[in-house]
Amino acid sequence: MTLHGTPEPVDQSQAVEDMTVIIFGASGDLTARKLIPALFRLRRNGYLGDRSLIIGVARREKSDEQFRSEMREAIRQHVHTPASDELWAGFAERLHYMRADLTEPDDFARLRESVEAKEEERGLTGRRIVYLATAPELFAPSVEALESAGMIPHTDDRDRLRVVIEKPFGHDLESAQNLSRELGRMLAEDQIYRIDHYLGKETVQNILLFRFGNAIFEPLFNRTHVDHVQITVAESQGIEGGRGGYYDKSGALRDVLQNHVLQLLCLVGMEPPALFQGEYIRDEKLKVLQALAPGRSGPVSSWAVAGQYAASAVNGERVKAYVDEERIPADSNRETFVAVEVRLDNWRWAGVPFYLRTGKRLAKRVTEIAIQFKHPPMNLFSTVECEGTMCDLVEARPNTLIFHIQPDESISLSFSVKRPGMQYQVQPVDMDFDYSESFQIELPEAYERLLLDVMRGDSTLFTRSDELEAAWRFVDPILEAWEKPAHRPELYPAGTWGPKASDELLARSGRAWRRPEE
Ligand code: BG6
Repeated sequence: MTLHGTPEPVDQSQAVEDMTVIIFGASGDLTARKLIPALFRLRRNGYLGDRSLIIGVARREKSDEQFRSEMREAIRQHVHTPASDELWAGFAERLHYMRADLTEPDDFARLRESVEAKEEERGLTGRRIVYLATAPELFAPSVEALESAGMIPHTDDRDRLRVVIEKPFGHDLESAQNLSRELGRMLAEDQIYRIDHYLGKETVQNILLFRFGNAIFEPLFNRTHVDHVQITVAESQGIEGGRGGYYDKSGALRDVLQNHVLQLLCLVGMEPPALFQGEYIRDEKLKVLQALAPGRSGPVSSWAVAGQYAASAVNGERVKAYVDEERIPADSNRETFVAVEVRLDNWRWAGVPFYLRTGKRLAKRVTEIAIQFKHPPMNLFSTVECEGTMCDLVEARPNTLIFHIQPDESISLSFSVKRPGMQYQVQPVDMDFDYSESFQIELPEAYERLLLDVMRGDSTLFTRSDELEAAWRFVDPILEAWEKPAHRPELYPAGTWGPKASDELLARSGRAWRRPEE
């Protein structure tokens, strides 16, 4: 581990064989915002070898030069440390663009020829990663096009092709199963890497290390000590330009809760794996999803809340309602906020509520997991504090352990101490570990880490099809209830913490959501 240093030096035993990365959907936003910047950083940090190739594929006509100049601009915007001319030149010469249309078999035959020719020029062996950064309806047709162009190696040789699939992987259980079946006809499960970029975040990976690399915390992670757990993925932004069409079909439940939030829940709730290796970890995560159940019996509305943001003034600026955003129908019932109370029906967590929430246009951009422990069995130290005629009861706060995932990466533990003075007065305080103070390095980006893992053939941080199906199986009944014509999400003013019903979800058991800005 490097403390107070520059990036971790490249461990040569971890170096990967040079290969070709082919990106389908190269004209899209994901390629410019995440994939090319991540590949650039991998090159800069010594993980992308000299012979490696990157080929962007999309339907539009474009020259290599044009693609390179667009990508240079993307790197300017999305990589913190500027690219020197020399670094850029070293990266750009491996960057190419090819036009191909999925409906034109000849295009893919040509694509294959030109990829092979470029690989031969650079002395590459034909090991490839195909990244499907396309619209989801093109996932299966893209793989079919690869198959008919003879680009899918089979049986013994199959590890020469790995296919990365972006979310959304299906829009409900049935469509996810159909997609898995279709892809399964052409690819083996170990060739498919379903990306959930939350698992690539440094502080998310740290949850497992924190839990299973320290002896003192793990014994407390269970029903005996934990009162409840809150997981929040809150965004202050609304629907970014151009995403309205996708978002209005998806909503907060499919867009973030079904994948990112449930993955965080798995990491907090899972048992220690027998070995710290892909399949062992994924087996334990799957068990969490299998134990996942509604927090209350009764209709979906008794444990799940849908909200939609309404127009409001945020920091003095007028913010539009969801229904006034670009490409959103004026009568849309789509939820931009979801909160649920769930349980894990297993030995460790029986009876502990887990509250999960995510939404757009909330008060603050913050992702965190808060584990709130039980109150001490007796309140020996409550103190009455008076100012003039106003008196308040100050009590010991229950201990809370918080994984702050973004925007600041830290872990904090709150506990009570004695306020200095002649009386026993309680003072709640926090103990913090701050990533950026302790490790003065630029943390790797999620996509950078995940792309490197695909190159290494390590699928630990990717979602397996059975995990994905278990997540959809849980979410499906909520979707069904919310598709009914009578369903309406509750409106909340933009810039707040969501609808009232979300607060009521916790209030009925005497609990309250954390307000991370306070
Ligand atoms: C994506 C969702 O998967 O995650 C977006 O499609 C959301 O709607 C984003 O904004 C949040 O990711 P991050 O890393 O910014 O928290």
